[in-house]
Amino acid sequence: MHVLFFTFLETNLLAFVFPLCFILGSKEEASPYSLLDICLNFLTTHLEKFCSARQDGTLCLQEPGVFPQEVADRLLQTMAFHGLLNDGTVGIFRGNQMRLKRACIRKAKISAVAFRKAFCHHKLVELDATGVNADITITDIISGLGSNKWIQQNLQCLVLNSLTLSLEDPYERCFNQLSGLRALSITNVLFYNEDLAEVASLPRLESLDISNTSITDITALLACKDRLKSLTMHHLKCLKMTTTQILDVVRELKYLNHLDISDDKQFTSDIALRLLEQKDILPNLVSLDVSGRKHVTDKAVEAFIQQRPSMQFVGLLATDAGYSEFLTGEGHLKVSGEANETQIAEALKRYSERAFFVREALFHLFSLTHVMEKTKPEILKLVVTGMRNHPMNLPVQLAASACVFNLTKQDLAVGMPVRLLADVTHLLLKAMEHFPNHQQLQKNCLLSLCSDRILQDVPFNRQVTVLKLKMGQNRVLEICLE
Ligand SMILES: *[C@@H]1O[C@H](CO)[C@@H](O)[C@H](O)[C@H]1NC(C)=O
Ligand SMILES: *[C@@H]1O[C@H](CO)[C@@H](O)[C@H](O)[C@H]1NC(C)=O
Ligand SMILES: *[C@@H]1O[C@H](CO)[C@@H](O)[C@H](O)[C@H]1NC(C)=O
Repeated sequence: MHVLFFTFLETNLLAFVFPLCFILGSKEEASPYSLLDICLNFLTTHLEKFCSARQDGTLCLQEPGVFPQEVADRLLQTMAFHGLLNDGTVGIFRGNQMRLKRACIRKAKISAVAFRKAFCHHKLVELDATGVNADITITDIISGLGSNKWIQQNLQCLVLNSLTLSLEDPYERCFNQLSGLRALSITNVLFYNEDLAEVASLPRLESLDISNTSITDITALLACKDRLKSLTMHHLKCLKMTTTQILDVVRELKYLNHLDISDDKQFTSDIALRLLEQKDILPNLVSLDVSGRKHVTDKAVEAFIQQRPSMQFVGLLATDAGYSEFLTGEGHLKVSGEANETQIAEALKRYSERAFFVREALFHLFSLTHVMEKTKPEILKLVVTGMRNHPMNLPVQLAASACVFNLTKQDLAVGMPVRLLADVTHLLLKAMEHFPNHQQLQKNCLLSLCSDRILQDVPFNRQVTVLKLKMGQNRVLEICLE
């Protein structure tokens, strides 16, 4: 099936990549939109026409029919993608007309009450609430979910990235209500040792992402050492343990398939090298991420992998490693890094949510663009994803716009699918809007937009664009467009 904006990742709960929504399919730009996607997109953007308003102002679909569960999930996801989830619109998920199973409410702007009324009566198996607005806390979400007996026992996967834990102080810990939970992602949250201890005692927990939390000590993980298969702890900036102490805990996590101890180059810790030197540690590991860590060498990585022939991935971006023949990333062993295009593409795929890594990867991609002679839609698409995920991050937008220019210049643009170029155009215009006074960025974007292919073949609202640019006094593009 072709997908309009993103495919819902068939979620393998132990998948190492957490983000459930906003994952772009791989080749669909060149094919027509599916009928389902056309319908969902139309419904989403004209929702009010299909709805009546309840007394409290929330929307209610007029059609009496019942939506198949997959379609309801996709509708919710499409609304999230367009930033259309609010107290009014989520009203359509109340009652029994929709049945949700895998719910994505990313970046919704909703209250705790609206959340409870719209979502907590569904038989949810997954919920991704990344970046929901600050009025609703993690405690609200969990107590809402915990009010439903079925969800308590059957919710398997919960994503609570970039939220606030609670506004109460002290607050009541609540994770233990969700006894069915197998995978939890709680990154960029002020989440402490006591919270980790509570989560680690969940009886089914197999996969945990605690990146960029306030944890100072990971010893509590020993409580789930016989269950834990995937542990992601990127940039644990407050950790106050020695390398030996950390390794003593990690050594006990015998069933780990995936371990991520990457960092954004801030610390000088030797944890990565020390881990790689251990002979008897983590026998079941198939995936290890040490990107951004110091003292990593090709020799140590090779020795580690040679002892574990079933390794499938190693993360080496922003380290000094990844340059040996063994680590090209071409075969069975995937490598994220900066040594060649394959490694960079892997990095952009895996780290699309991590601004620092996106920037690093784009920076290295740019230096490769002068040798690219073929059109590379799959690479441009990865650039687009990074750009879309970090709209307010200037270094990302700068690096991305430079890559866009060199990936689409002259003949290279001819082979790019129009739909992909339309995404690019939209994001370039957004970047110009967000950073009106940054000359280099404006220049990169204008140069990219001034391409015959974009100006002639890509549908976008030229009048609105000219008007906006006039206000920003951008004569160059105006001339281009007129
Ligand atoms: C880390 O988390 C804090 C909130 O605890 C957030 O303000 C910050 O932006 C996060 N850092 C990154 C790189 O996402
Ligand atoms: C990656 O590098 C290896 C050698 O270092 C090379 O054989 C391979 O072709 C490169 N792959 C790409 C896509 O450049
Ligand atoms: C990007 O494209 C410009 C213009 O064609 C070219 O001068 C420059 O060398 C390219 N940069 C790289 C790194 O390839």
